[in-house]
Amino acid sequence: SQKWVLMVTAQTPTNIAVIKYWGKRDETLILPVNDSISVTLDPEHLCTTTTVSVSPAFDQDRMWLNGKEISLSGGRFQSCLREIRSRATDVHDKEKGIKITKKDWEKLNVHIASYNNFPTAAGLASSAAGFACLVFALAKLMNANEDHSQLSAIARRGSGSACRSLYGGFVKWIMGKDEKGTDSLAVQLADEKHWDELVIVIAVVSSQQKETSSTTGMRDTVETSLLLQHRAKEVVPKRILKMEEAIKNRDFASFAQLACTDSNQFHAVCLDTCPPIFYMNDTSHRIISLVEKWNCAAGTPQVAYTFDAGPNAVLIARNRETAALLVQKLLFCFPPKSDADLNR
Ligand code: PMV
Repeated sequence: SQKWVLMVTAQTPTNIAVIKYWGKRDETLILPVNDSISVTLDPEHLCTTTTVSVSPAFDQDRMWLNGKEISLSGGRFQSCLREIRSRATDVHDKEKGIKITKKDWEKLNVHIASYNNFPTAAGLASSAAGFACLVFALAKLMNANEDHSQLSAIARRGSGSACRSLYGGFVKWIMGKDEKGTDSLAVQLADEKHWDELVIVIAVVSSQQKETSSTTGMRDTVETSLLLQHRAKEVVPKRILKMEEAIKNRDFASFAQLACTDSNQFHAVCLDTCPPIFYMNDTSHRIISLVEKWNCAAGTPQVAYTFDAGPNAVLIARNRETAALLVQKLLFCFPPKSDADLNR
């Protein structure tokens, strides 16, 4: 019968890099110029929920994002779909009486519905959660028996940072050496229980979509910034080792110092790009000053800040008490007078 539909729903949180990925050595395969480290958020907050379904009644692959149909023709979606389809195995749902063989998967079309519970493309790593969730859900639907690291290498083809959302806790994306990208994948450094005192506060400075996409931005940076070459070769390799050590020892002072410095260098590299890229705005800069002053007065870091390809601040507080104080300070310094003010 042509009536059946088989579905899988998955939920994936976004991740925030504390040692940034910026710059590709291969644009098609999405191979980075340096390793990066991130922390995956709790699933109930910033996450993507994706339902993938398959039915003989579907005449083409289709996708909806936040309720609106989007095109699947882009190379990134096609890579993820192709890679998972090629790993599909037999599925036998006894309850529904459905049998799909490895061969059937080549002809069957999928429908994908994805929903972000936070602003899309505003520099809050929506594509990271999105592609990780898509790849994971498709792998479950098609019974692809890959482990999380292997799936991470497929999610990487959707959006680089997506490979780090296949794991919870602290995750490292190893840049890899292979020019085909087989060893460019994510590994978990520590699970979500390892350092659960940390509290992440996201100050949404603007929910507008960013002006320069990370793809265009990275391309311009790779082509024009000498500072990026220095960063990738000389700075990040040492910083990665120090960050791994800080995470292992739950050493907040080192963690904060490394995360803040790395965020600032990423934005310096953006400024060193021709034409220069500005992701942070005046409010972002005020938040940095506030945190720096507070950390300095306290004698030891209380809060770390990091900014991605947008003006929104990701603030990591050392514990719950500090997080509560942080929110008070932010509200005191930045009373949102109007929406227009917030979105400036
Ligand atoms: O995966 P992309 O192409 O969205 O790039 C993400 C880049 C940053 O968010 C700025 C840094 C990172 O490592 O996530």
